[in-house]
Amino acid sequence: MYEMDHNFIPVNTRVENLLGCMNLQEKVAQMIQIPYSKVSKKEALDWAKRGAGSFLHVLGDNARELQKVAIESRLGIPIIFGIDAIHGHGLNENATIFPSQLAAACSWNRELVEAMAQATACEVATDGLHWTFSPVLCLGRDTRWGRIDETFGEDQYLAGELGASMIRGYQGESLDSDESILACAKHYIGYGEAVGGRDSCDTEITLRKMREVFLPPFEKAIKAGCATIMCAYGSIDGTPVTANEKVLRHILRDELGFDGFIVTDWDNVNNLVTLQHVAADIRDASRMAAIAGNDMIMTSSEFYAVTIKLVEDGLLDEKVINEAVRNILRIKYRMGLFEKPYKKGRPGCIGCMEHLELNKKLARESIVLLKNNDILPLEKNISSIAVIGPNADNIRAQYGDWTYFTHPDPNPEQMPIKPYLTVLEGMYELAKENGISIEYQHGCEIMHGSEVDFEAAVSAARKCDVIVLVLGDMIDQTGEAKDRADLALSRVQVELFERLRNLNKPLVTVLVASKPLCIDSIAKDTDALIVAFNGGMFGGLAVAETIFGKLNPSGRLPISFPRHSGQLPVYYNGLSGWHGGKYMDLPAAPLFVFGEGKSYTSFAYSNLRFKEKSLSVTVDVSNTGKVDGLETVQIYFRDCVSSVMTPYKQLIAFEKVNLKVKETRRVSFTFNRSDFSLVTPGENRVTEPGEFILMVGSSSYDDDLLQIKFVL
Ligand code: GLC
Repeated sequence: MYEMDHNFIPVNTRVENLLGCMNLQEKVAQMIQIPYSKVSKKEALDWAKRGAGSFLHVLGDNARELQKVAIESRLGIPIIFGIDAIHGHGLNENATIFPSQLAAACSWNRELVEAMAQATACEVATDGLHWTFSPVLCLGRDTRWGRIDETFGEDQYLAGELGASMIRGYQGESLDSDESILACAKHYIGYGEAVGGRDSCDTEITLRKMREVFLPPFEKAIKAGCATIMCAYGSIDGTPVTANEKVLRHILRDELGFDGFIVTDWDNVNNLVTLQHVAADIRDASRMAAIAGNDMIMTSSEFYAVTIKLVEDGLLDEKVINEAVRNILRIKYRMGLFEKPYKKGRPGCIGCMEHLELNKKLARESIVLLKNNDILPLEKNISSIAVIGPNADNIRAQYGDWTYFTHPDPNPEQMPIKPYLTVLEGMYELAKENGISIEYQHGCEIMHGSEVDFEAAVSAARKCDVIVLVLGDMIDQTGEAKDRADLALSRVQVELFERLRNLNKPLVTVLVASKPLCIDSIAKDTDALIVAFNGGMFGGLAVAETIFGKLNPSGRLPISFPRHSGQLPVYYNGLSGWHGGKYMDLPAAPLFVFGEGKSYTSFAYSNLRFKEKSLSVTVDVSNTGKVDGLETVQIYFRDCVSSVMTPYKQLIAFEKVNLKVKETRRVSFTFNRSDFSLVTPGENRVTEPGEFILMVGSSSYDDDLLQIKFVL
């Protein structure tokens, strides 16, 4: 029935036709996703024969072999292959490794983030795969959490905008095009807000807070047509998301109209028994997960036999299974999987020059300059530079998580594949162009060091005009189940910094890290500070170009830097009311704030105008400095009096503008009343009448913002 030309049969008709031919075993098998790297080849082939709907972490010929078996099965329903290609097709060592989401978020560039996803989709599809478990829409508000690098930072507006861009990049104009793949908005919902930053623990948020802060990025993902959503490990106020029918079925489907399919995260169903203790056994858990609205079950393969038995024993209505299978088949038909079970992609695109050039562009716009006592860009009369530090020549630290070094299993022996440029290699390249000599010393490891290392570093620095010190964290300190209670830079790195600082030479500190670390003393004493979150293949080149002035940095922080772990949370859009407004032992303000970042030029804002009738705002932005530069115009708002507490400021729009020296650009935005809304205790999103303040400028610092009051 599905051999006919599919253009003339509506997808839903094809779904019903096929569903009507499937027996119970085939239906439940369609809900199963098997982790290829965790089963034997024979088991994998058996699952393909049984009609498993999906596999993850299988590449190339192994995937093609499984697909052939599936197509030859009774109903020949093709398998959908998923993979974690979350900043490039990272599990393939020849692929283009882009900056991490957190690094890319520093660019505040929707188009570049979309282009990164489009290039990634092309490379994943060329490997014959159909689906990436990306983007992450969790918010990075508690930086003790191990997966901050995978987020777009702390703000729901920025995360929603960049997440929707990424989804458009992955899915392109149509799901069935050779170079598009399915996106997966994850982890639904609130996973990053777990208490204490403890991965997959309870998220003590109310449904109101969930709707106001954590749901907006997923609403934008659904509006962008995201084909799949991943159900988070954690729980909302004591109810595991996996078992939360209101959150999964009623909000996502009934309210937001999501019509793709929901996949659980890794072994969520068993976690209901073993970690969350809301199910007595896998039978109970499987029934709960199916009724709550999970369509595809990642790795909990026990679900198969148990669920068939539940239906046969009359303990689970087959209608629930039919609904899940419909959701899966609808996407398989929409993406043309039956006509084209093997994705073609664009042969030759993996790691191609076009993608590498795009990668450099994004890496450059991901660099954030946070301090500069006028020592950058380097003076022309410099003749020697000491490049020192554990992350100066550390491609693993620069790549970060979810690359071929770390997944699907940690691979410390894996050799890095060229091309890439660490900070040291970038410095060598730029120094050569400028006839400058480089002295390199490791100085210490991230977590330990020795006097000998320090002495070698100090003596190298003594011989040079300028010191570039590259510090940060390493892969072992970041990722799933790698939360940190203490975000302070390791003692040995601080000591290395102090030894070099005592030389009283110009000192540039570069932080190559997966997240904001506590660098209070270093930020105070260094002459310049550059933040380069996991920058991918060319993060090091972008740092070097910034130091030499070949690049005018334009990155803005998508996440705040705490002074101390005890200061957390420090996200900018928290609620007011703190008696005393600060800890007894720490200032109130974080070390660096959301939206902050310096340029080698300067920008001025003027003529802020707001038209209440059309809810439109205009502002003039001028480049008042000596070099061309990119400025990110940020717009925040405050609801002056609201029925429920609302943040002192909330990002509501942003736009990046490229301004030549002395150029002035009039930037305008038009809003809807709903942009100024809040969520009531009754969980309704409303815009209340009254006074509002609009703030426009170059960061979330009050001093950087022009304000204008208006009435709705
Ligand atoms: C992991 C992660 C999820 C990932 C999935 C498949 O445990 O939580 O983000 O996509 O399993 O690898």
